[in-house]
Amino acid sequence: MTPLRQHDMRLRPATTDEIKEVWEDRWFGLVVCLSTVYTPPDVEGLALVDYNDEMVGLVTYHVDGPAGQIVTLDTIIRGRGFGRHLLEAVENKFHNRGLGRAWALMTNDNLRAAGLYLSRGYRLVRIHLDAVDRVREHKPELPVKGYEGIPMRDLWEFEKLGPLGVPVP
Ligand SMILES: CC(C)(COP(=O)(O)OP(=O)(O)OC[C@H]1O[C@@H](n2cnc3c(N)ncnc32)[C@H](O)[C@@H]1OP(=O)(O)O)[C@@H](O)C(=O)NCCC(=O)NCCS
Repeated sequence: MTPLRQHDMRLRPATTDEIKEVWEDRWFGLVVCLSTVYTPPDVEGLALVDYNDEMVGLVTYHVDGPAGQIVTLDTIIRGRGFGRHLLEAVENKFHNRGLGRAWALMTNDNLRAAGLYLSRGYRLVRIHLDAVDRVREHKPELPVKGYEGIPMRDLWEFEKLGPLGVPVP
């Protein structure tokens, strides 16, 4: 099989149906945030696709005033730089819309995602203790333990203040 490389990929808007498919597969169909529950029609998405238009990653986001929330970030194949690429793409989108704040939530077991955000200049600005209890009200199927057997309890809030995005050559 030919290895996938970043330069074989392109970004395009994701349809609501595509978002729905990924969310059903990976997020039990919806995303529970601090005071909001998102369903696919509530968000916009950017898909990273290969030369056959097969999706290798998806970032979804929601803009509220001067801030853009990264609602989900998923790569189908991990460790190839696709997560970083999608994060930069959504930041560019925010920058082009004049936003000065990007933020994201993740559960306290998600060390891989935390590493990605921290390496892109995000800071851990809040820890919402026991916020996963509320997520479980909407997703009773959510396991007690997450990545690396870490009990999922809290939501970590990461933030990056402008300038967002990366210079376009
Ligand atoms: C989180 C996720 C999007 C990362 O995507 P990815 O394609 O594997 O990430 P990348 O290959 O682009 O890695 C980018 C950077 O993340 C950081 N990173 C990745 N894994 C890491 C780890 N285990 N520890 C610390 N940092 C790590 C590194 O800085 C890495 O850069 P480098 O490769 O130059 O060292 C992916 O693992 C995923 O789909 N997870 C499931 C969904 C999810 O939890 N999403 C996040 C919350 S919405």
